[in-house]
Amino acid sequence: MHPTVRKAVFPLAGHGTRFLPMTKSSPKEMLPVIDKPVVQYVVEEAVEAGIEQMVMVTGRGKRAIEDHFDISYELEDVLKKKNKHALLSELQRISNLAQILYLRQKEALGLGHAVLCAELAVGDEPFAVALGDEILDGPKSGLSQLMEAYRKLGSPIIGMQRVPLSEVSHYGIVAGTEIRKGLFRVDRLVEKPRLEDAPSDFAIIGRYILTPDLFEVLRTQPPGVGGEIQLTDALNTLAERRPVYALEIEGDRFDTGDKMGFLKATVRFALKRPDLSLEFFHFLRETLERETQRQSSEGAHAIRPLKG
Ligand code: UTP
Repeated sequence: MHPTVRKAVFPLAGHGTRFLPMTKSSPKEMLPVIDKPVVQYVVEEAVEAGIEQMVMVTGRGKRAIEDHFDISYELEDVLKKKNKHALLSELQRISNLAQILYLRQKEALGLGHAVLCAELAVGDEPFAVALGDEILDGPKSGLSQLMEAYRKLGSPIIGMQRVPLSEVSHYGIVAGTEIRKGLFRVDRLVEKPRLEDAPSDFAIIGRYILTPDLFEVLRTQPPGVGGEIQLTDALNTLAERRPVYALEIEGDRFDTGDKMGFLKATVRFALKRPDLSLEFFHFLRETLERETQRQSSEGAHAIRPLKG
């Protein structure tokens, strides 16, 4: 039997520059997708996968995350007095979601460094890593799929998904040998390759099951791309020492730290909400029809003077 995965690390200390100016004073992980911050979706995914302890690696300006998962007596009192019982129990559910430990990454030195900051809290046991700005929408939680594979393999497993060829240069790409459909033994990981150098179209996504021997690698890992201590580099070193696997994760992934990913997540989750879907669907349809008409009429205007 392989040791059970009980803990998950959430690296939440990045600057979120792709979402400036919003992220100047608010964490990107607190962006709401409908009425829940992104990080709550990720924590709920971990809870669904059976994780008991959450280790959050935060940084300056990220206090709102701690407040969100804390008890708000004042607010609960107001809701009680106003007989808003459903909202009250939802708030209580959030503050009881899981046991959460907060650590600080004093400087955003990279994802690998953020994971290393969690070493003391994780100790000598396998652990999950979930990026706090990526959410998944699928039949089964992403971490559950990885945990299931980990129970059989007992080795580090990286979550991956196919991406369009035009996007391979934005991701860490997996090179490996397929063991069964959707499961690879990793030969190496290539960070942001040019299309012609990409060994596959399988991109690393923000979900991992890792083993504590990774910390030893991270401790001596020199900075890589962008001067940051990269988790991908450490996983490459680990893959030279022991089997490391990559599993294709079912479900749609939204990188909400990216504007387009955030917009897509909002539309997807709004269309799934029974209280919003119908009205929102009609609004979207009307907006699209109007926009199509506007663009085609503007297009006609734009073409005429050119021809004239
Ligand atoms: P990203 O590269 O998406 O985060 O890192 P970022 O640096 O905040 O974003 P941009 O590119 O500037 O917009 C993936 C995850 O790793 C965390 C981030 O918070 C994010 O959840 N991270 C990154 C850290 O915790 N520490 C770091 O030093 C870097």
